[in-house]
Amino acid sequence: MTAGGPSDMFEAIYAGAEGGAATPPWDYGGPRPQLVEWAETRELAGDGREALVVGCGYGADAEFLALRGFRTTAFDFAPTAIAGARRKHPATGVTYLVADVLDLPREWEGRFDLVVESLTVQSMPPAQHSVAARSIAALVAPEGTLLVLATAREEGSEVTGPPWPLTRAEVEMFANSDLVLRQLERIDGGAWWRAELSREGAGPN
Ligand SMILES: C[S@@+](CC[C@H](N)C(=O)[O-])C[C@H]1O[C@@H](n2cnc3c(N)ncnc32)[C@H](O)[C@@H]1O
Repeated sequence: MTAGGPSDMFEAIYAGAEGGAATPPWDYGGPRPQLVEWAETRELAGDGREALVVGCGYGADAEFLALRGFRTTAFDFAPTAIAGARRKHPATGVTYLVADVLDLPREWEGRFDLVVESLTVQSMPPAQHSVAARSIAALVAPEGTLLVLATAREEGSEVTGPPWPLTRAEVEMFANSDLVLRQLERIDGGAWWRAELSREGAGPN
């Protein structure tokens, strides 16, 4: 990652928070309600299956999935976020790692029964959205599910990011010939997308 690039920007925000500046604006202080509602509606139970949280920040969503019985891995490219996640959850069973969506370990491909992506792709420059979506989709296991949470933008509307909220077409980019878009909801008064994708015949329960 180049100096002055996106990872430096996020690292600076997390480092600033460590130094007493404001907490990152996206940090909800707990699991995202849009994830919690989705999980509760499905009575989601991990039963020892594997979950991965993309761009996990301080790890609240990862801890939530671990509590629901998933063996959970979570990553972020900002080392200070990962250090903060480990510190905030000292007794955690989650494996927290520094990794970049654009350069993920090959052995992660096809491994995870549940992959949760919340607000990471939209924090990346638009030119990276399709490659990031493909990279995330590739992590889903043959029987697995991908949940995408993003704020919504109308097709053709201009936005000066970061963030760069996703259009419907950008959310649809997570789908491919193996991974089917099962449900695409416009939630929170239309402000957010919530998309669920899975392999043919698969589901999170
Ligand atoms: C807007 S925050 C969202 C954090 C969390 N997922 C949530 O929903 O609150 C975006 C997060 O993604 C991380 N991130 C951005 N680009 C990334 C990349 N290419 N690889 C890994 N993490 C990335 C940032 O460091 C940040 O923690």
